[in-house]
Amino acid sequence: MPHPISASDAGRPAVTGKVPDDLLRVSDLDPETLAELLDLAAAMKQEPLGWERDLRGGAIGCLFEKPSTRTRVSLATAAHRLGMTAIVLNRDEMQLGHGETVADTARVLSSYLDAVTVRTYDHATVEQMAEAAAIPVVNALSDTHHPCQSLADLLALREHFGSLAGLTAAFLGDGASNTCNSFLAACAAAGMHLTIASPQGYPTDPDILGEAREVMAQTGGSVALTTEPVDAVRTAQAVYAEVWVPMDKPHERDERAVRLAPYRVDDALLAHAPREAVALHCLPAVRGEEITSEVLDGPRSLVWNQAANRLPTAQAVLHSLVTTNRRRIA
Ligand code: CP
Repeated sequence: MPHPISASDAGRPAVTGKVPDDLLRVSDLDPETLAELLDLAAAMKQEPLGWERDLRGGAIGCLFEKPSTRTRVSLATAAHRLGMTAIVLNRDEMQLGHGETVADTARVLSSYLDAVTVRTYDHATVEQMAEAAAIPVVNALSDTHHPCQSLADLLALREHFGSLAGLTAAFLGDGASNTCNSFLAACAAAGMHLTIASPQGYPTDPDILGEAREVMAQTGGSVALTTEPVDAVRTAQAVYAEVWVPMDKPHERDERAVRLAPYRVDDALLAHAPREAVALHCLPAVRGEEITSEVLDGPRSLVWNQAANRLPTAQAVLHSLVTTNRRRIA
């Protein structure tokens, strides 16, 4: 049952651009819509309960196939702040984990919920969910994309530097990771200049690179690839470290620890970066591996605000997708 948007919406920031049906990848958002989402998130950070009447009585499902702290709690709290209930769904406790198809599950959940968020191993699962669902589907992390994280990253950078266009950033580590893919797309939309420093054998997907370069041709951003961490940070205003061993690749731990060691973000590496450079990490961190405690807890760390920004950005995503979908079906 659609709920009307409250009259008190007048004058508040709103996403007026092309809100997608689902948020599976950062590139589902055009640059203007992404910027509006960040504006809305900033407003929600200032006034967390200012939108609580809009979606009162609604509900979201948070389907998790693997562990999460930040994503799960930020999405659930965001839903609560918008007047909605969040139901955490574990795959193994659902019929989904016992043979029911993703598509059948999506159809049924669409009759109970206003949105479903999905953390999964295989990106195809969120795509199947989105294909079959009549409600917005939000990717809460798949093997190839982590859009919710990138929105929080951009908000933290915008708060720190004042604007995003023209900022320089370096991503160190696995250039094929979900976090890297989404940060690349976010930098593209924001008109930023990104250098990805990865060892041989950890290349960024050429299709994702090509897509980002197309967006950068419009926004003025750029992306460069290198194997040299010092070269990558030399002009970087933001240096992004990421966990070396993803949840779905524990068997690669030993090899990754060796191959990725030169890409550790520590004070010695940051000494090559501009004085103003800040450190980013999506968390959870393995202290002493991809980032040291001296950086994580030090004055250049933007990490804790990145994590904090998961909440207002989740709130902005849920609000814009759910209200837009309700208008569509009204
Ligand atoms: N950054 C992130 O997605 O954290 P969680 O795995 O705790 O959700």
